[in-house]
Amino acid sequence: MTLNWKNEGENMKGQKTITGFGAVSALALFVVGACGGSGTADIAGDADLRTIPDDPSAVSYTLGSKLANLSGQDSTDFDDGLVAFSSNEGPADGLGPVFNGQSCGQCHFQGAIGGAGNDLALTRVTRIGGIVDGKYSDLEHLGGPVIQSRSNREFDPMFPHGREFVPSEAKFVSLRITTPLFGLGLIEAIPESEIVARSQRKFGDGVAGTVNWVTHPVTGKKEVGRFGWKSQISTIEVFASDAYVNEMGITVPIFQDEQKPQGHPIAPGADSVGEPEDAEDVELFISFMKFLAPPTRSPLSIVAQQGEKLFGTTGCANCHAPQYKTGVNANPALNQKDVNLYSDLLVHRMGSMLADGIIQESAQGDQFRTAPLWGLSKRRLLLHDGRATTVDAAVSYHSGEASIAAGRYFSASESDRSAIREFLKSL
Ligand code: HEC
Ligand code: HEC
Repeated sequence: MTLNWKNEGENMKGQKTITGFGAVSALALFVVGACGGSGTADIAGDADLRTIPDDPSAVSYTLGSKLANLSGQDSTDFDDGLVAFSSNEGPADGLGPVFNGQSCGQCHFQGAIGGAGNDLALTRVTRIGGIVDGKYSDLEHLGGPVIQSRSNREFDPMFPHGREFVPSEAKFVSLRITTPLFGLGLIEAIPESEIVARSQRKFGDGVAGTVNWVTHPVTGKKEVGRFGWKSQISTIEVFASDAYVNEMGITVPIFQDEQKPQGHPIAPGADSVGEPEDAEDVELFISFMKFLAPPTRSPLSIVAQQGEKLFGTTGCANCHAPQYKTGVNANPALNQKDVNLYSDLLVHRMGSMLADGIIQESAQGDQFRTAPLWGLSKRRLLLHDGRATTVDAAVSYHSGEASIAAGRYFSASESDRSAIREFLKSL
């Protein structure tokens, strides 16, 4: 049976997802038996049916605000962090030689500073990969893994380096939209053991998420990846540092190598600021993201409550797990808090429609982190490359491990589907 639920107005036109070696990732496609037609009442195996009760005593946050119960110092660091995160940098601050944005806030702003991006041009980033000597490569020698589509020529027409382009050697080209950062500190404070335990849970419907074990760039230790479209990074500090170098061309203590434009050595005189180009702002970005409050869910209507249950029985919650809890934490703002993120933070084989061929740490070409659904109502673009703008369209691309759940969704009655959508609108 082929799965083909295309929604009117949603298609992949103009999307260059995988080329050439795309078959490599499709090989690993999870094969499921019968899909669809089973109806929402028929639950395969051990479905995750947890619902989250409305709690009137829970703190209700305005999007973009800081966590409650922060110490005076943390609160000040958040405020300073917000300013640094939104401030433009220029060549004198170390920007470039090639870059994608002049501030973090330039891409992370939908709903509030720290949010997702909302366009398919400026806030969408291109990641490449290829095969060199029979092995997967980030194509660093050609300007990969991230393409920087702007250069300091914007400030000086005589600047020796122009923007980067996708090299013809790139077999895999993946477009990635900007993810929201709300509640990131809570996600970081979830104990590794909880995520590992989740990966060992068995579901009867083909769901088999795995941890993306990643290597910490400083300690060399294997850690549980939790951030980014493939859970490719384990801590906020590493992501902030990585983003500063890759998106803005500003080097930091843990990544002191400049991005080489298209892989070429940097021309004499093109980079006058010594490495690391920044050590203070990156600390402020970390504080800002760590203490950024999670999105607050709105009260559930009767229909949305039904939708929440159906979200469980349909099998969506087997990956989009409603809740984790942070561990014991010295910071009261992060100590033993519920994290209602609707993600297991694991990576799943999602089938050939979503596969981008890109390998990041242990995540393969067809594996993606279950996208957290908290804050979904504030989003415009969905899926890693932003190809969908509606829940139905997003689910229509779910295949691989998600085939059975997606099949149930599309064979459910329109009123059940609309209840699920109503529930998701409350997030
Ligand atoms: C040109 C746009 C752009 C700029 C500028 C940018 N980002 Fe991002 N950001 C992205 C994209 C795209 C992703 C998703 C990357 C991926 O996983 O492939 C992302 C993801 C992230 C994440 C991971 C969040 C999660 O989903 O778990 C963090 C943290 C982050 N960015 C921090 C920053 C910081 C800090 C800065 C400034 C130094 C910054 N970003 C600048 C586009 C941008
Ligand atoms: C096997 C795990 C799995 C199941 C089951 C699953 N999803 Fe997903 N979902 C994912 C992954 C992984 C992504 C991100 C895929 C990508 O961007 O390429 C995602 C993305 C989404 C998105 C887009 C979110 C965003 O930030 O872009 C929505 C909406 C969504 N899922 C809804 C659902 C619904 C509704 C169901 C039940 C019918 C469901 N999912 C079942 C794994 C799953």
